[in-house]
Amino acid sequence: GTERTGTARLKADAAGIARAAALLRAGELVSFPTETVYGLGADATDDVAVARIFEAKGRPRFNPLIVHLPDAARVRDIAMLEGDAARLAEAFWPGPLTLVLPIRPGARLSPLVSAGLPTVAVRVPDQPLARVLLQAAGRPIAAPSANPSGRISPTEADHVLAGLDGKIAAVLDGGACAVGVESTIVGFDPAATLLRPGGLPAEAVEACLGAPLALPAPGDTVSAPGQLQSHYAPRAGLRLDATDLSPGERLLGFGPVEADLNLSPSGDLVEAAANLFHHLHRLDADGDAPIAVSPIPETGLGRAINDRLRRAAAPRDG
Ligand code: TXA
Ligand code: MG
Repeated sequence: GTERTGTARLKADAAGIARAAALLRAGELVSFPTETVYGLGADATDDVAVARIFEAKGRPRFNPLIVHLPDAARVRDIAMLEGDAARLAEAFWPGPLTLVLPIRPGARLSPLVSAGLPTVAVRVPDQPLARVLLQAAGRPIAAPSANPSGRISPTEADHVLAGLDGKIAAVLDGGACAVGVESTIVGFDPAATLLRPGGLPAEAVEACLGAPLALPAPGDTVSAPGQLQSHYAPRAGLRLDATDLSPGERLLGFGPVEADLNLSPSGDLVEAAANLFHHLHRLDADGDAPIAVSPIPETGLGRAINDRLRRAAAPRDG
């Protein structure tokens, strides 16, 4: 592995963006803010740069990565965007929606990005800094969340540095992420399929398509790679749907309850999603006492929140 002495924290100004773009073009890893979480970016056309992502994250396997582009025209350079996918792109980009599309024949893309699949996951983030950076880089940028494998996704530059300082060239500091959970992923089988619930409510996708989303077949290893059970785990044990508190437990609340930390005292799922990883980071930093979590409704962003919490609560695979 490449030893690095320190990670630069770049300001969200013209010089910072120019430096971040130059580092990306030189094959270095740069973390940058999106509206969902901070991404760990690398030039998606450069095999070594993409491999460094897995090295820096300590990922146990090569999962396919999401490629970030500044607009739909640049997406069309590398992928086939047609039919239902084009309608969703028109309705929701820029925004927290990732589409899994056939790779355009002849596209310059490292196969590591797609883990050898004939499809590539693409999205256009709704974060002004990210879009200016993607334009300046002039390359498709592969970016998983900027956290060590199995740990909580980062929603602030400080979270990125806590996990990856010394392992990446720089982090572009754009403050806190507005959405706070990863993008919703839709694939086409050919029917539109919800591969990962996320920051765009599945109901909004279904309303645009005028049809319900299919769910991946159980045990489908192509659509589910990277969805390790303990992907979002803090060190402490987690108990979900808690309506009471056992001795020694801390409460991560939702709604009007007395809690150590509350995702949203008013029961607002958007606020809860924006707070989710932030609160898990704080509970992780505050100690090892087990965490009980209030029930969270399984609607809208609640689906993404519960998905992350179930992974965090699942038995650890080390
Ligand atoms: O919000 C987000 O999407 C964040 C920010 C940084 O943009 N990125 C992110 O990327 O979550 P990542 O690399 O962690 O997401 C990768 C997931 C894979 O685990 C898999 O579920 C899906 O995207 N995926 C990627 N390529 C795929 C493909 N060709 N077929 C099926 N699923 C794919
Ligand atoms: Mg992740």
